[in-house]
Amino acid sequence: MLLVIEKVFTSEEAHGFRQQLADSAWVDGRLSAGSQAASVKTNQHLDDRIDLARDIGDAILQRLNTHPQFVSAALPNRILSPKFNRYTGGGQYGAHIDSSIMGLPGGGQIRTDLSATLFLSDVSDYEGGELVIDTRFGTQEVKLAAGDLVLYPSTSLHCVNPVLSGARICSVFWIQSLIRDNQQREILYDLDQSVQSITLDKGPDDEDVNRLTGIYHNLMRCWAST
Ligand code: NI
Repeated sequence: MLLVIEKVFTSEEAHGFRQQLADSAWVDGRLSAGSQAASVKTNQHLDDRIDLARDIGDAILQRLNTHPQFVSAALPNRILSPKFNRYTGGGQYGAHIDSSIMGLPGGGQIRTDLSATLFLSDVSDYEGGELVIDTRFGTQEVKLAAGDLVLYPSTSLHCVNPVLSGARICSVFWIQSLIRDNQQREILYDLDQSVQSITLDKGPDDEDVNRLTGIYHNLMRCWAST
């Protein structure tokens, strides 16, 4: 499932992040790519140990941890600290699949089940730069407003088209989900969205709402790993 979550941040908030990031020390993005990806990557990234990257990364994680749609769709177990990248002057990222295992800053590793891109630039800030994702239903091009986020399975082949003019600044991060299997996670997301909608209609004490909520948790119990 490819899911767009709009307005995780307002365009003003995204603009604020973008301004803070503009004067930072961007470095060659190939330094952060796996061996398969390094040969196809011509962008810049921010050293994620600097305070600014940590501060904005924390603000992103804080927002997402309390975002009902994100939590429902990702069912996060662990999230890798957000990284920041910038594409200018023809910069692109050719077709690749993200590394399956990534190291956590304080030690330890996560399995990447879901990849996320949070767009910080406005659509009008740059030409090109679409995130192109192969899905079971064909190729999808994603280019979102500042503050919007796309979530997709890390098993997907994807690329970033060349940025022909302007600058495309995004944050990218990876999630190890409580539910490893993409199909099971999608079923839980659909069920949760339906339960929430029925709850609005019938109220939280309705017998069917209670039964469906129980089914949701029992499926979670069957499928989750922590
Ligand atoms: Ni990637």
